[in-house]
Amino acid sequence: MNRQRHPHDGGKPLNASIVLRLATMADVHLFDRWDQQPHVISATTDDPEALKAFEDANWPDEIAAQDEHSQFLIAEHDGRAIGAMQIIDPHRERTHYWGEIQPNLRALDIWIGEADCLGKGYGETMMRLAFQRCFSDPAVTAIVIDPLTSNIRAHRFYCRLGFKSLGRRMFDDDDCLVHELSREDWCNGFPDEAAEIPVEVKLPV
Ligand SMILES: CC(C)(COP(=O)(O)OP(=O)(O)OC[C@H]1O[C@@H](n2cnc3c(N)ncnc32)[C@H](O)[C@@H]1OP(=O)(O)O)[C@@H](O)C(=O)NCCC(=O)NCCS
Repeated sequence: MNRQRHPHDGGKPLNASIVLRLATMADVHLFDRWDQQPHVISATTDDPEALKAFEDANWPDEIAAQDEHSQFLIAEHDGRAIGAMQIIDPHRERTHYWGEIQPNLRALDIWIGEADCLGKGYGETMMRLAFQRCFSDPAVTAIVIDPLTSNIRAHRFYCRLGFKSLGRRMFDDDDCLVHELSREDWCNGFPDEAAEIPVEVKLPV
C-alpha cells in the first residue's frame, strides 16, 4: 500500500482500494463489454456512427498475444474490475503502432469501462500505479500517450498528471495529440512514489 503525498494534487494519497493486475483470458468478457460503452467509444474514435471502441480488437487474440513488450492490465477497485490499461514498449512491440520511435520509452492507454467509476479519481491512481511500473525499469526515460485531439477532458487529466503536449499526429485516420511524461517530470511531480519503486511492481519478463 502506498499513501505518499505529492505536490500535483495538494497531497492526495493514492487510492489504496485500487490495484492493477495482468489481464487474462477470463477478462475477455470485460473488454468486450467495455468496448460498447459510449464514453469509451467516444474516447477512441471521432466516428459518431461507431458502435465499438477498439474496432479492430479481437480480445482473445489480443490477450493471447501479450508478451514482455505489450501487456494489458485490469484495474480493480475493492476487487471489482473497473477498467483497463495497456503498457507497451513502442519501439519493440510487434504491431509497430508508433512507427519509427526511439527506444527506452513506454506508451500507455487507459480506459475506465464502468461508467459509474468515472470522475472519482480512480483514473489518477491507475496512472500513478502504471508510472511506477513503467519507471521501475531504470532504462525507461519517458512515457508517451496519444489521446484523440478531440478528447479535451483526457488532455486536462493527463496535463494534471504532468504530461506535456508534443503536438498532433495522425495514427491512420485518428487525429491525436501526443503527450509525454519524462522521468524527470515524474520524479519532480511524484517524488515519494519515485523514491519507493517496489521491486515487486516490475513487469514480469
Ligand atoms: C480519462 C479517464 C481515464 C480519467 O479517469 P477518471 O477517474 O475519470 O479521472 P479522475 O477522476 O482522476 O479525474 C477527473 C478527470 O477525468 C477526466 N474525465 C472524467 N470523465 C471523463 C470522461 N467521461 N471522458 C474523458 N475524460 C473524463 C476529466 O479530465 C476529468 O476532469 P474534469 O472534471 O476537469 O473534466 C477516464 O475518464 C476514462 O476512462 N475516460 C474514458 C476513456 C478515455 O478517455 N481514456 C483516455 C483515452 S487516451
